Formats: sequence, structure tokens, C-alpha cells
Amino acid sequence: MRCAIIGKPLAHSVSPAFQTAAFRAAGVDATYERWETEPDRLAGAIAALRAPDFLGANVTVPYKERVAPFLDDLRDEASALNAVNTIVNDRGRLVGHNTDVSGFLRALDTVLHDEPVGHAVVLGAGGAARAAVLALGRRGAIEVAVLNRTERRAIDLCADLAEAVASPLMPLGLDAARRALRDANVVVNATSVGMAHGPDADSIPLPPDALHEGLVVVDLVANPLETPLLRAAAAAGARTLGGLTMLVEQGAAAFELWTGLRAPREIMFEAALSATAGAR
Ligand code: ATR
Repeated sequence: MRCAIIGKPLAHSVSPAFQTAAFRAAGVDATYERWETEPDRLAGAIAALRAPDFLGANVTVPYKERVAPFLDDLRDEASALNAVNTIVNDRGRLVGHNTDVSGFLRALDTVLHDEPVGHAVVLGAGGAARAAVLALGRRGAIEVAVLNRTERRAIDLCADLAEAVASPLMPLGLDAARRALRDANVVVNATSVGMAHGPDADSIPLPPDALHEGLVVVDLVANPLETPLLRAAAAAGARTLGGLTMLVEQGAAAFELWTGLRAPREIMFEAALSATAGAR
């Protein structure tokens, strides 16, 4: 059987490493292929997934929103976000899922356990931020403040998700971080600040002195494993969660949709860890 990841660029994706490890560990005879795809080839790539030897695919940047029109059905979170990260080939019918939401929640539970989310702050307004906001709402956040450098995008995000999320959503500029963090229990970095090799690799998306020990600080940046934000958060006594756990959890949920088997999470995490180290 076959699976693919569709996106561009894909050179640094660690999904092939940990999905291949998962197939091997679970005894599934399947390959996981890197399909770096140009925009004008997207429709053809999706159509190819209908063949009987395909389990499905993952979809990543920049196509999560763009694949929706090529699919036959969108499941709950995928339709609320209008974004798909996992496609399942159900005997020629393509069904779009979004496991970023459940992956985020499983990762969050590794630090939060059964504590309530309380007041949450999400930094950023792109696709990663949208998945985090939906997830925090699903887990009963009292309120989610959405802070973005370009405040207009935070306003749009809150308007788009208002119907799908029961928790009140509050759009703000990044300059409101200090005030928003004072009463917060959970803060999520869904910006690209802190990403290895990016323009802001050494930066922190909020004033470090706004961090405090009552916080759970989640960084969706998966490389490096310890971002400047996570380092500052740990120094302030906060509990921390890095992006690799969510990356593996969204992949584990995809694996379970494709195979119907329980994902070998520890093996996947170890494979993701060594692939990340190799990509540095
Ligand atoms: P994705 O869909 O992968 O989440 P994206 O749409 O490119 O990615 O979003 C990147 C996020 O990082 C945006 O919220 C962006 O803020 P803007 O909307 O103002 O561009 C944020 N971001 C990137 N660089 C930043 C920086 N130096 N400081 C603060 N926020 C930054």
C-alpha cells in the first residue's frame, strides 16, 4: 500500500521518517512518499490518491486549505477550519480530516492531564493558530485571546471561528501580550518566531518578563526542540511543551485513520527526534 505527503517545500519534513517507522513497527506493508507538488499539479496529485493501492495522504503547507474542493467529504474539524491535513482513501472516495486539532489536544494533555485549560492565549493567526484556537475551544477554555502582529488577521480568525468555538474569542495585537498573559493559564506560540533557519530564529514572540510559573507554555515550533521561548519559559518556572509532540500526535492520528491500528507513538516520537537532529 502507499501513502504520500503533499506540500512544498518538503525537504525538512520529518513525517516520512516517523510514518515509515510506524508502518514497519506495526507490520503494515506500506510506503510513505514525499510528493513535493507545484500548485498546477495539485489536482492531479489528489486524483492519484483514489487508486486502490493508496491508504491516503498528509497535506501540509501551503495546500491545507486548497485541497478541500478536490475531496468528496470533509469531517468535523476539517470543515470547521476549512483546512485538511489528512486524506483517507475510502475505496475511491476521498475524505478530508484535520488531525492537527486532536493532535494538539493529545499533546497538551501530556502536560495538562485533566486540569482545565482556563484562560488561553494564542500567538499568531495562520493555519496553526486556527487549529490551536479550535482545539482550546473544544477543551472548554474560559476564553481564548488571539494575538497577532497584524491585528487584522486576528480579527478575521476570531470571526471565522466564532460559530465553531463555544469559548469567547478575543482578537488583540501582539502589544497586548503582557496584559493577556497576566491571567492566562495556557499560552501557545503559533507564529514562526523561533524556527530554526528562519529570520526570527533567535527571537521570542512576547516580552520574556511576562512569563510566569502559573503558565503552561506550548510552542508549536518543532525545530529546534528547545526554542528561545521554551528556554525563557522554563527559566520563569512555567511548564513547557515543544512542537515535536504535537507533530507526532497529528501523525499518529493520521496513521490510525489510514490503518485502523493503534499508532506506535513511542517509536514514532523516537524516529521524529532522530530525523529532527539529522535535519539540523
Ligand atoms: P501557518 O499557516 O503555518 O501557521 P502563517 O500563515 O505563515 O503560517 O503564519 C505565520 C504567523 O507567524 C503569522 O501569525 C505571522 O504574523 P503576521 O500575520 O503579522 O504576518 C507570525 N509571525 C511571523 N514572523 C513574526 C514576527 N517576527 N513577529 C511576530 N509574529 C510573526
